[in-house]
Amino acid sequence: MKFATKAIHSSYDCDGHNRALMPPIYQNSMFALHEIGEQIPYRYSRLSNPTRRILEDTVADLEGGAAAYAFASGMAGIDAVWRTFLQPGDTIVAVADIYGGAYDLLIDVYAKWGVNVVFADLTRPENFDEILAAQKVKMVWLETPSNPLLRLVDIQALAAKAKAAGTLVGIDNTFATPYLQRPLDLGCDIVFHSATKYLCGHSDVLMGVVVVKTKELAKPLHTMMVNSGAIAGPMDCWLVLRGIKTLALRMEAHCKNALEIARRLENHPAVEKAFYPGLPSHEHHALTQTQMPKGAGGVVTVYLKNDSKEAANNVIKNMTMVKMASSLGGVESLVNHCYSQSHSGVPHDVKMQMGIKVGLLRFSIGIEDADDIWNDICAGLDTAL
Ligand SMILES: Cc1ncc(COP(=O)(O)O)c(C=O)c1O
Repeated sequence: MKFATKAIHSSYDCDGHNRALMPPIYQNSMFALHEIGEQIPYRYSRLSNPTRRILEDTVADLEGGAAAYAFASGMAGIDAVWRTFLQPGDTIVAVADIYGGAYDLLIDVYAKWGVNVVFADLTRPENFDEILAAQKVKMVWLETPSNPLLRLVDIQALAAKAKAAGTLVGIDNTFATPYLQRPLDLGCDIVFHSATKYLCGHSDVLMGVVVVKTKELAKPLHTMMVNSGAIAGPMDCWLVLRGIKTLALRMEAHCKNALEIARRLENHPAVEKAFYPGLPSHEHHALTQTQMPKGAGGVVTVYLKNDSKEAANNVIKNMTMVKMASSLGGVESLVNHCYSQSHSGVPHDVKMQMGIKVGLLRFSIGIEDADDIWNDICAGLDTAL
């Protein structure tokens, strides 16, 4: 089956569910046994739940993995991965422009727990060679395109280097989705999604989904999930399953609108620079064309010429349809002031190194009419001239 068909039909057989055409919501904590020792497929929903299982199997299928697990938020999913595969004394190498919440988790929790945390600019794969030559690395954590500057790393090249060194490769595939990029095919071991974003697509669920390439990786991750218990609830799983059915259509529309808006932003007099991997001016445009040939995603970021909080605030306050909010990936267009929102916990100096200026705005381009999105963004940007 091709992607759009799998997204609708994968992993659900109505014969096992009273011929209910759509997957039912098993809003149960428990499943009843007839007698002591009976083997039944589901016992307690922390271990597994039928609605959650349909979602997990669907995402595993879309990513080409052996198994998937759905967690109560994206951060719960990342935490489960790192706690499963890292121990005090191990080294994790993470991309320098990692999502702010993941940065906080590494610094506030894992570094204090004794994990050696190394951030590196992996857009130059040779930087990884130097690190691997100097120390044993347990895991490398990629994020491509990155949040918010949409920088790409060469997944295949880095995964090959990691494999040769016996290093596990985890990747945050939130911005690309399996529709645009399938990292397991390129050599990664673990794929993570903040399903809060595009997989859900309607800004009404918080969820993380982790997909693993092999059964060997699945076992300890499932044990961690059962022991620590940060599982996704049945209703949320159902909502994300419903969102996934239109993922292919939505991603096509996000990519088309984002490219159009990025082109216009690039020429707006209030904009210093527009970042979108689909633009020829983007530093990783050539890699985008080979690694994400179907499209460059729905996020577009700008530096305002007037690099001030006041200018950014004026833009935000003068848009009416495009609301300021913390997340992305829904059908509606949004704007994020990353300096004070997504990356608020990151120290000022580190934000500067990451390129997260105070005059940076990240747009999550929705699937509304492109002219309506543009007119609203212009109403904001014109105040920054
Ligand atoms: C790239 C990326 N990874 C992970 C997360 C964390 O996911 P959640 O907010 O669902 O916990 C986010 C949230 O913004 C994100 O943008």
